[in-house]
Amino acid sequence: MCGIVGYVGSKQAQHVVIEGLRRLEYRGYDSAGIALVHSVDGRGAIASDKKSGKLANLDKAITESPLPESTTGIGHTRWATHGAPNDTNAHPHLGRDSRLALVHNGIIENFAELRAELEAEGHTLLSETDTEVAAHLVERELTDGVDLTVAMQRACQRLQGAFTLVAVDARDPDRVVAARRNSPLVVGLGEGENFLGSDVAAFIEHTREAMELGQDQVVTITREGVEVTGFDGSPAQGTRYHVDWDLSSAEKDGHDWFMRKEIHEQPRAVADSLLGRRGTDGLLQLDEVRLSDDDLRDIDKIIIIACGTSFYAGMVAKYAIEHWCRIPCEVELASEFRYRDPILTQSTLVVAISQSGETADTLQAIRHARLQRSKVLAICNTNGSTIPRESDAVIYTHAGPEIGVASTKGFLTQLVACYLLALYLAQVKGTRFGDEINEVMDQLDEIPAKIQAVLDAEAGIYELAAKYVGTKSVLFLGRHAGYPVALEGALKLKELAYIHAEGFAAGELKHGPIALIEEDLPVLCVVPPRGRDQLHDKMISGIQEVRARGARTICLAEEGDTAIVPYADVLITLPKVPTLLQPLVATVPLQLFACELATQMGHDVDQPRNLAKSVTVE
Ligand code: F6R
Repeated sequence: MCGIVGYVGSKQAQHVVIEGLRRLEYRGYDSAGIALVHSVDGRGAIASDKKSGKLANLDKAITESPLPESTTGIGHTRWATHGAPNDTNAHPHLGRDSRLALVHNGIIENFAELRAELEAEGHTLLSETDTEVAAHLVERELTDGVDLTVAMQRACQRLQGAFTLVAVDARDPDRVVAARRNSPLVVGLGEGENFLGSDVAAFIEHTREAMELGQDQVVTITREGVEVTGFDGSPAQGTRYHVDWDLSSAEKDGHDWFMRKEIHEQPRAVADSLLGRRGTDGLLQLDEVRLSDDDLRDIDKIIIIACGTSFYAGMVAKYAIEHWCRIPCEVELASEFRYRDPILTQSTLVVAISQSGETADTLQAIRHARLQRSKVLAICNTNGSTIPRESDAVIYTHAGPEIGVASTKGFLTQLVACYLLALYLAQVKGTRFGDEINEVMDQLDEIPAKIQAVLDAEAGIYELAAKYVGTKSVLFLGRHAGYPVALEGALKLKELAYIHAEGFAAGELKHGPIALIEEDLPVLCVVPPRGRDQLHDKMISGIQEVRARGARTICLAEEGDTAIVPYADVLITLPKVPTLLQPLVATVPLQLFACELATQMGHDVDQPRNLAKSVTVE
């Protein structure tokens, strides 16, 4: 939520900041703004502009009325929390004397009390935001004669909640100061220039050397260097790291949308996430798991926590973990977890799944679990983000940056990580023989080519999507591991095409949802592979039931499944894979369907309305 950029160096800050915001726009796009430090008659001054709506509005405004030249600046792209997304509430906000400009991501919980305090002192606040309160507070400290770093430290000690703040002072033009608590911020380390960003995409064009910061830290960047302290001013250290992806990964590569590009990257993303997992001894190894095998052997319960699409990956993981490891496994929405007083012990493993590693609900849930002394393992796609940093162990997915707001390759690689975790636990606990584990690993190794085969048939899905432009409602049915796929297909359609879509477990149909079936209602059915269990046949019975009531059935079934043919108005064939792994191939047509339908309906697929990529507020 919200993208933040800061720059000091020798380039034109306006260009660096606007380009940085362009790469962060997926984090929020309700409004955008920029502030630069420049000089008027030898005295420092702030020049700023901000506009509601997408970054393009700000870009147009500063093209028509250019800002002065400057090599120090900050910028912001907003996902509104306090106050409507209008020009006044857009960031940056200025202090009382317009000496300081500040941008913010997060929520300052005690802002009402602080606002009252400032107003009692005669401050006039122009916006409804909590951010303006922070701007006035930091500037008030500045007028006390201290520098921006100390002013920021002092102000942060007054703030409660979650925040990243970045500020510039007109009288100190070569310094940008930032602070973070429970909200993302990384430093980009350049030569004679330094950067700040909500994530590395903000500065990847300029440097791949980065520094992550801890909680409750203040960072000061100048051309020459970077200094980190605690909120109390005590010296602190950031952790340097090299970013292993480059600018081309953050570009669309000829696709119309990042989402479409990311869907097509899935064969590689899945292959990369599987890479190097089998040791020379033939045993599965997950080198990022910092828990000992003894710790893992003692685990008697697993609770998976996640939100949205990541939650659906967790639902698939439950099937795999219980089947291969025989450990009881619950899956819970992170936003509900803490509030139901969950039973957690030292032998509970909490698995947090988060593409961004910054989702506030998931972060708070793992903190709660760790307080109860449970072990926490994170499955995450973002190196250096908060959730893996606060976990006992982490399995990184190697999807590369996911910029489209709707998760695609993030989801598939989360599934891979879940399977790997389940197999690893089965190996450690001895619930599966080595050759059984190897057989599944061989099946997983074949998946990238199978996803590619689904992608090669995309034209058929696009034709199908074109027929449903303007449709009001779509249902998705699945069973077993296909049930979370149905939920994910429905979520994609809701968030991208704004079509009412619901996913159901097919067996639940006759317990209520079948009442929704009417003539020509499209029902997408994820048909389980034929196997020794009765899942496939039971699914066909469900499909017959909706068809008998007039629904139009679009069935996703494995190649060679002739039993489904009489009941499918449209048949999408999937490569043959075992039931548990089917989500890896069955999800892809649903992603393509939603992406294309939304495109045909004229929606912005990468930036759907009301959403943001990384939900850093609860
Ligand atoms: C849907 C989507 C969201 C995220 C959810 C969790 O397409 O992207 O539902 O899955 O906000 O985000 P992470 O995985 O970053 O914790």
